[in-house]
Amino acid sequence: MTDIEEVDFEVDQEDLDAAPVPAGSGTGGLSLLVNDLHVTYRVFGAKKVGHGPGRKQGTIGRLLSRGARQPAVREVKAIRGISFAADHGESIGIIGVNGSGKSTLLRAIAGLIPPASGTVHVASSPALLGVNAVLMKDLTGERNIMIGSLAMGLTKAEVKQRYQEIVDFAEIGDFVNLPMKAYSSGMGARLRFAISASTVPDILMIDEALATGDAGFRAKSKAKMAEIRESAGTVFLVSHSLATIKSMCTRVLWVHEGKLVMDGPPDVVCARYKRFVEQSRKRATA
Ligand SMILES: Nc1ncnc2c1ncn2[C@@H]1O[C@H](COP(=O)(O)OP(=O)(O)OP(=O)(O)O)[C@@H](O)[C@H]1O
Ligand SMILES: [Mg+2]
Repeated sequence: MTDIEEVDFEVDQEDLDAAPVPAGSGTGGLSLLVNDLHVTYRVFGAKKVGHGPGRKQGTIGRLLSRGARQPAVREVKAIRGISFAADHGESIGIIGVNGSGKSTLLRAIAGLIPPASGTVHVASSPALLGVNAVLMKDLTGERNIMIGSLAMGLTKAEVKQRYQEIVDFAEIGDFVNLPMKAYSSGMGARLRFAISASTVPDILMIDEALATGDAGFRAKSKAKMAEIRESAGTVFLVSHSLATIKSMCTRVLWVHEGKLVMDGPPDVVCARYKRFVEQSRKRATA
């Protein structure tokens, strides 16, 4: 990761006024429709933030307030009104700074978290990459392949049949018999991707899985994404690597503070995003 997470980002309206009109580049008909999606996390037991020195209380004040103390619940509005449509055959990159809502958006589309409001419609039953959440570090690669594949909707017989294919695709060899905590991050990413790619789902979602892959694996991943798109599937790819996004996507969504700030061709959106990040960095160091 880069050092951009330290920066306080704000999008200026003038940066966005010239944003191109959303353009669906696929031609295979509608595959997915997201309409005014809102997702809110509730965090229990959160400490109140933003209290300065005025917070100091005397002993009596503390005693008095103790009985009335409630468990603090904080709401994090992670997605705040996102709408877009995706066509079959599209490969959609999602970019944005840390905490902007990319992973949340994917998880909501995958049906892993319920929307606070708004809707997600998918054309056919989505076999999405929920594997990130499912893989368990203490279990071996083999067990994770079983569990992850079942979670993706394969039957036990199908998992057995595809097991070797998954191991080969991940190129992790004998490590498959070790717990995943013994894997390098690249190996973990390979296995996750191999599991999710063992089906040819209608919609494949990849969240930074490629970031740690080496060149050879990246080429394989690219081929798999192409295969899914050729079979009229839709691919979503979240990555902080603009080069990866540009080489693999036909369209890019830029998410910021839970909102969609730009939706268009990869070159245009990535260039604008890059400029934005550079400007924010300059402002932060000025
Ligand atoms: N399980 C959770 N509980 C509470 N808040 C969460 C949870 N997951 C994410 N958030 C919050 O929701 C917002 C969006 O987070 P999200 O993980 O979707 O961002 P992201 O764009 O994927 O970031 P990154 O680039 O770091 O992966 C952030 O403010 C984050 O703190
Ligand atoms: Mg994320």
